[in-house]
Amino acid sequence: MKIGLLTGGGDCPGLNAVIRAIGKKGIVHYGDEFIGLKNGWAGLMSLDYLELKRKDFSGILHLGGTILGSSRTNPEKEEGGYDLAIKNFKGLELDALIVIGGNDTLGVAVKLDELGIPVVGVPKTIDNDICATDMTFGFDTAVTVATEAIDRLHTTAESHHRCMVVEVMGRHAGWIATHAGIAGGADYVLIPEQPFEIEDILSKIQSRMNRGKFFSIIVVAEGVELKGEGWEIQTREFDDFGNVRLGGVGDLLAREIEKRIGIESRAVVLGHVQRGGTPTAYDRMLGTKYGVAAIDMVHQGNFGMMTALQGTKVRPVPIIDGVKESKTVDKETYEIAKVFFG
Ligand code: F6P
Repeated sequence: MKIGLLTGGGDCPGLNAVIRAIGKKGIVHYGDEFIGLKNGWAGLMSLDYLELKRKDFSGILHLGGTILGSSRTNPEKEEGGYDLAIKNFKGLELDALIVIGGNDTLGVAVKLDELGIPVVGVPKTIDNDICATDMTFGFDTAVTVATEAIDRLHTTAESHHRCMVVEVMGRHAGWIATHAGIAGGADYVLIPEQPFEIEDILSKIQSRMNRGKFFSIIVVAEGVELKGEGWEIQTREFDDFGNVRLGGVGDLLAREIEKRIGIESRAVVLGHVQRGGTPTAYDRMLGTKYGVAAIDMVHQGNFGMMTALQGTKVRPVPIIDGVKESKTVDKETYEIAKVFFG
């Protein structure tokens, strides 16, 4: 078969592991040919692509990012965008398309599937907010990076008797904040899913100081909204899918903590560091399992479906089940983080 391959949305560690697994199993086992569409949906829309040979799938397992490039281009934003995508799919004489992406990119895949394009999805995002799968690859690497940062911030916070506010990624879901907060021993974790009172945070920091602990680590997901006068973040930009560019909540919080209880505070924004660099062994493993499953699904004619981790097994589920809403942090997991607040 002749198969198109694309990676869309924010990049994430493990993308190349997926690409490699698809390519190696596809070429060696099925005799497939591959077209790599560059920079997500942009590559299909503008016919920017490369023919991928066996050598292109070699030596990339440990590499972060994506050899295909990525973008947040949305075909829906362009008039006749879907028609053009279908025309180009046909023009390239593709038999199927494997789409590796998060909620937005896979949302486009759902639409193309409805329009008759044979599509298989692979869920990716460091945010871990895709439904119907226990985990997305990239998440483990992001949590590992954030946990290591929290460990490092502990020692400097303690030396300087400061409160360190660590802002991590997580748009609608506080998975990275919760997991890294638990793993790193945070004294408070704020996530978009859970309401909080600033007084509660302040009293936890204060009670630590009363016990002779003159430092605190607060982890906040970038998607948390602080409500109150002077807490509005002014510079807001939106991408093609209408997502706001986040960032800044950590700084606001650090300033408020310092103002209200006098502890010297600093904000640290981990940002894209969480998304860059080499994937953990777990993410390479999950990416590889997803890649092998995805190419098998193409040959089984399992279209409109995406790979999903259920327990230890990878199974096909409808892409629409993965993307119809964001998978948010369950109360049970957050309760574990709360045990260690203060
Ligand atoms: O969707 C993944 C993600 O890493 C979010 O956590 C974050 O808000 C966003 O991407 C950042 O996007 P960009 O790389 O476009 O700034």
